[in-house]
Amino acid sequence: MDRELTLEVVRVTEVAALAAAGWMGRGKKNEADGAATNAMRAMFDTIAINGTVVIGEGEMDEAPMLYIGEKLGNSSGPEVDVAVDPLEGTNILAQGLPNALAVVAIADRGNLLNAPDMYMEKIAVGPRAAGKIHIDDPLEKTLEIVAKANNKRISECTVMVLDRERHQPIIDAVRRAGARVRLIGDGDVGSAIYTAIPDTGVDLCVGIGGAPEGVIAAVALKCLGGEMQARLWPEDDEDRARCAQMGITDCSKILFMDDLVKGDDAIFAATGVTDGELLKGVRMLGGDLAETHSLVMRYKNKTIRWIKAIHNLSCKADLIAGTPYIK
Ligand code: FBP
Repeated sequence: MDRELTLEVVRVTEVAALAAAGWMGRGKKNEADGAATNAMRAMFDTIAINGTVVIGEGEMDEAPMLYIGEKLGNSSGPEVDVAVDPLEGTNILAQGLPNALAVVAIADRGNLLNAPDMYMEKIAVGPRAAGKIHIDDPLEKTLEIVAKANNKRISECTVMVLDRERHQPIIDAVRRAGARVRLIGDGDVGSAIYTAIPDTGVDLCVGIGGAPEGVIAAVALKCLGGEMQARLWPEDDEDRARCAQMGITDCSKILFMDDLVKGDDAIFAATGVTDGELLKGVRMLGGDLAETHSLVMRYKNKTIRWIKAIHNLSCKADLIAGTPYIK
């Protein structure tokens, strides 16, 4: 992949964030997701890649756009796998709450996990604990390892968990071990990344969330030197059949970093939609101007870029058509 691609990929998340932000706080999560998806799709087609969505909005018959197997790009560039989440945190955006993001990851063809849009069990840590944990270790043991690696007492460690009933055993185990739980309503791409950014104070992210979010977060963690381990979490036979259709016969297999994202190159990009700990959200500046804040990273050269951009929305009207702030 050419290094220029890194900046091209940010354009994709920027435009998705701009489109979604028009729907912020309007209580309409489907419209917001649709706007982000349309914008992301349209921008992808201006980029010099031969892309294939390998994990994202769903299978072909259930997602109108950015479905698994969909071809992206202007067909003039390298063959790449694409993992998409045009709006990570549809509910939080609809309610105007913090931490909604537009996110994308790409890697050379065949290097990202190809799986249905279903649940995945995940555990994520930052660089200091990478290589030392195992998804099947009891949480008490993992916390000892993570605390030691991060040079903290267990009582000082913070574990981020999606606030879901299914996570009660995890929450109880963390508390029993003496660590602190930070519950979040949505958005486990962000929480996995926080483990690799020391000033967030998050040491461990654990629980069951979306598989696309897992693959995208794994790419981010690969760039940051962290680690994710995962396992698909089929809810029923239908999920198992969907996996089988994609060639996954053993859903119970542990997915290590090399199963989630292989190879010596991968790019991750995220743009804030609403304000969050990782990124500021889209700011409407008046006079058709809007400001975005993005994070883009490439594994090959390990560069981490924080990009602030000012956009003139009138020049992007075709990409974000239908969003409430475009006439
Ligand atoms: P969406 O924006 O696609 O709804 O995802 C938000 C999210 O919280 C993800 O971050 C997480 O992986 C997943 O939903 C968890 O799923 P569920 O809400 O069904 O528990």
